[in-house]
Amino acid sequence: RTANSLVGQRYLVTAGPTYESLDPVRFIGNHSSGKMGIAIANEVAKRGGKVELVLGPSSIEVKHPNITVHHVNSAVDMYEAATSLYDDCQVGIMAAAVSDYRPKDVSDQKIKKADDSITLELTKNPDIAESLGAKKRSDQKLIGFAMETENLLKNAKKKLTKKNFDLIVLNSLKTEGAGFKHDTNVVTFIGQNKTREFELKQKTEIAKDLVDEIISL
Ligand code: PMT
Repeated sequence: RTANSLVGQRYLVTAGPTYESLDPVRFIGNHSSGKMGIAIANEVAKRGGKVELVLGPSSIEVKHPNITVHHVNSAVDMYEAATSLYDDCQVGIMAAAVSDYRPKDVSDQKIKKADDSITLELTKNPDIAESLGAKKRSDQKLIGFAMETENLLKNAKKKLTKKNFDLIVLNSLKTEGAGFKHDTNVVTFIGQNKTREFELKQKTEIAKDLVDEIISL
């Protein structure tokens, strides 16, 4: 492995889940732990790069001096932080699991138990990756992730194009040891004209492979 230095480079990394509040005690969230994105942030930092890490609720401690952590809760908060930071970065890596929808109304008070069934109305969240992709400059790169459960390659390739990514990292919820929470993952790198499949490995190792791949783009 080449010890490619990232001194002088600034990376934006999104990681972790988002929490979409329903009322003061409840939220809609997902199973992301933040491990994958934090592993990437640590790898960039180890190679001398600076990282703006926009991190949803996660219990993992991040403490490399090259990493500035921007703690956020919701997709809208993550969107605001990421869109304001990307201009000063050469690379954006979108490893967060962002809620596509949020409750339309957030109750000021705890929602009381009453009827046998209640209906929640949801409204669409901004797509952070897509909006960064739309304003990406020719001197910037944008890397996405795709968490799929079916038609893996086809769906990932669609996202690569739609969100204007230079590379997308596909992982499947159906693969043993892959995806949310585990220390390991099984990924495929999909670029405009080449695809690389990897075996099960530690997220810290995947972070090295990914940074090497980005340097070679
Ligand atoms: O955190 P871990 O527990 O380690 O788990 C890692 C992971 C499974 C969360 C990670 O490897 C991963 O796959 N992250 C992306 C999950 C996802 O929500 O993918 P998606 O296919 O729904 O979204 C596609 C891309 O658009 C992603 O880069 C996502 O960050 C981005 N996106 C999606 C929706 C949205 N509103 N804004 C976004 O930026």
